Amino acid sequence: MNSDNDLQIAGDPLEVPHLLQPPREHPATVAEFAGLARAIAADRAQWAELVRYDATTRWYHRLRTGPGYEVWLLSWVPGQGTGRHDHGRSSGVLTVLEGTLTEHTRRGARTLAPGAQHVFAPGYAHEVVNDALEPAVSLHIYYPGLTEMPMHPAAHAGAHAALSCEARPVTA
Ligand SMILES: [Fe+2]
Repeated sequence: MNSDNDLQIAGDPLEVPHLLQPPREHPATVAEFAGLARAIAADRAQWAELVRYDATTRWYHRLRTGPGYEVWLLSWVPGQGTGRHDHGRSSGVLTVLEGTLTEHTRRGARTLAPGAQHVFAPGYAHEVVNDALEPAVSLHIYYPGLTEMPMHPAAHAGAHAALSCEARPVTA
């Protein structure tokens, strides 16, 4: 016996159009960006064959773009890292696809294992490095797309990079 407050639908609820959220082609919320990253992570066919490892320079590949955002695929051989930087006015979602990365911030270091996701706000400063003995692969979504990556004095005094966040060689 249902109370008066219960919603009752006769027949198949999926046939009631107004109850359905229209599928969104592009993510628009933090949760949706994180979900997009997880979906790409789970679909290795989208990225595994694209990954290259380069011991002399950081490797990166722009996997896709959408309105206001960019998705980058990055590889890290052991020892490669970013130097301390922020992401200008971009927010981001970092997702580890393979291997292990270590993120250093003023609050300390933490290990990011495969599947780990890290959301950061504009101005967030960190340094990411592959401290492990195996190569690593990560996925980075920037919203809006990254236009600058200011380096911080602890790593590179006054330097500015014009390319993607983690996507630059380590010089120090
Ligand atoms: Fe970064």
